[in-house]
Amino acid sequence: MPDAAIRPKVAHLDRGGTSVVVRTDGTTPPSIAYWGKSLGPVTAPQLDILDRALRPTLGDSVANTSLPGAVVPELARGWLGLPGIECDREGTAWAPRCSITDWQVDGCRLRVELRDEEYGLGEQLVLELEDSGLLRLQATVTNEAEAPLEVRALTLGVPVPTRADTLLDFAGGWSNERHAQRTAFQVGRWTRDARGGRPGLDGPLLLIAGTSALGHRSGEAWAVHLGWSGNQQIAAERTFTDVHRLLGGELLHPGEVLLGPGESYSSPWLYASWGRGLDEMAHRFHAHLRSHRGEQRPAPVLLNTWEATYFDQDPSHYRELAALAAGIGVELFVVDDGWFCGRDNDRSSLGDWFVDARTWPDGLRPFSDFVHELGMDFGLWVEPEMISLDSALARAHPEWVVDAGHGPGLALRHQHVLDLTEPDAYSWILGRLDALVSDLRVDYLKWDHNRPLLDAGSQVAGGRAVAHGQTLACYRLMADLTDAHPGLRIESCASGGGRIDLGILECAERVWPSDSNDAHDRLRIQRWTGLLLPPEMQGTHIGAEQAHATGRVADLAFRAQVAVWGNLGLELDLTKVSPGDLEAIAAWIDVHKRWRDRLHTGSTVWLDREDGSVMMGTVADDRTSALFLFTVAERGPTPPAPLRFAGLEPDRTYRVRIEGPVQRPVDLPQWACGDVSLPGRLLMAAGLAAPALGPDTGVLIALDAADA
Ligand code: DGJ
Repeated sequence: MPDAAIRPKVAHLDRGGTSVVVRTDGTTPPSIAYWGKSLGPVTAPQLDILDRALRPTLGDSVANTSLPGAVVPELARGWLGLPGIECDREGTAWAPRCSITDWQVDGCRLRVELRDEEYGLGEQLVLELEDSGLLRLQATVTNEAEAPLEVRALTLGVPVPTRADTLLDFAGGWSNERHAQRTAFQVGRWTRDARGGRPGLDGPLLLIAGTSALGHRSGEAWAVHLGWSGNQQIAAERTFTDVHRLLGGELLHPGEVLLGPGESYSSPWLYASWGRGLDEMAHRFHAHLRSHRGEQRPAPVLLNTWEATYFDQDPSHYRELAALAAGIGVELFVVDDGWFCGRDNDRSSLGDWFVDARTWPDGLRPFSDFVHELGMDFGLWVEPEMISLDSALARAHPEWVVDAGHGPGLALRHQHVLDLTEPDAYSWILGRLDALVSDLRVDYLKWDHNRPLLDAGSQVAGGRAVAHGQTLACYRLMADLTDAHPGLRIESCASGGGRIDLGILECAERVWPSDSNDAHDRLRIQRWTGLLLPPEMQGTHIGAEQAHATGRVADLAFRAQVAVWGNLGLELDLTKVSPGDLEAIAAWIDVHKRWRDRLHTGSTVWLDREDGSVMMGTVADDRTSALFLFTVAERGPTPPAPLRFAGLEPDRTYRVRIEGPVQRPVDLPQWACGDVSLPGRLLMAAGLAAPALGPDTGVLIALDAADA
């Protein structure tokens, strides 16, 4: 059967400083000829020339019918890299060859319809270029035949220039997330898989291809991120024909997506950002998240009880804690794990979401009312996707525990997974959460997920894999709750930073980036998490003097200086803090609130420093003020280089001053006296002398425009 033919087409999407040129020769699936810095106004004939000029010359023995930048490339069209669609109809229909049937450009949105006539398979591809210059792509496959079609993979890719010779992504583990790893972009495939039903504590967050001089403010970066909270793969692929591409898609277990006649499967959105340096690349993600956040409410300063009391919840102690918190400016009080029936430790009771009358003899409502009377919102920890075998729920419904045929599987943190694809289990948990939110006047849910899914099958469905369905069910559960309770905020936590992605952030407002409140480690974790998230979406807490996760001891000033940038919180027992420290914490909350609007709408900048010191900041949207942190993480053999700022208005004069209490005596240079004013261009080009600081000591430097 001949390919359906439309005429060759080239579309130029141009927005937010970004151009994407997509083409087809009339039959073959769309291919990205160019993605990066805006090309400016381009005429149709110029686009045609560009399209032909960008086609590579290939030698003998090279399949050359496939356009190299195909978003969903096909083996049948000569693509020898990872295929875009992998499917199967009982051993047939495994090598799709789709042809374009429709091509619609609407502003900066391109929608392309494709069809494989012989296989009875439809495909739809959507590319959207947002105001910020962030590109997102999604594909949908439809079974147009009578016999079921299994989709094994649907992977989308974007090409990057061959000068991108370095890859940057992240690794780590519990309370130790986001260690940067760089590797050469060589022929072959660099793949990062997540198979635990969530992106994972060790997850890459983003996969970035860059030029070798890549830094926050140097080199060029192209990055992809998959907006999906379940199993997934992102990869960088370089072919022997020197095509460099970044790709991503959901990892599917056998039988997870079996399409009946007329049924469809849509891939998660693949997000792609580029920038001259990592900061510019990150700002496109920030703009996307900020514009999708809807109603702009200040991120509340909170107190979370986890490291303050762990499972030891006592109503009179909690009242004292709440009163102290309200007194120093806390706006949200979050009761963490330990409030529900039988939950004395982490060995039991997940699923029994009723307030434990042994701990809270009058229930939690009087305490929630007390918190509200103090002027704070009330938050509650839950872990709705999990179940303990030692729980009333598991005893009543053992069939709701996921099981792929060998029993409930490994107990990790002594817990198992509740099958949310089972409609009765879903209704039950939705009903419970809904009742808790109403009855306890809950304003905020800290939503945890502490066990990877592993061999997650549904008993009710004969052991079929449910990782895909479970992820969708989690989104639905969050959406059902927020629809029923407008204004309810959700925090995504998965043993810390195990579920940070643009999928969950369609429902959640903030993430918990790590169980480590160690300010030294937090600098790294917040820095790299910040490539995806704006500061207000990261929970950043002031923990105890000796960090529980690492044992490292740090001054209150340093802990606060690292925490003020994000969604500030406290995670320590205020009833045991000295009056002096309580006063200092109040002062830091005050600093945060004075800057909050600017920190949570401005641009984050990180300076590339090679001497072991760290300098980062936020420049207000109108560039009339900026706040910077300078700190020494590792001491070098020589004093740190001068502090050169970034992101300022060159011709504006800024007054320089130290912000917030300086706790430990530090040797401050002359400019710290507060009467130095300099134009932005001098502060950026020459800078100021670095203060002599010991390790894990910092200063906050405020710059206020003299004319503001
Ligand atoms: C893991 C989370 O990351 C912690 O912050 C805390 O909520 C515990 N779970 C509670 O079990």
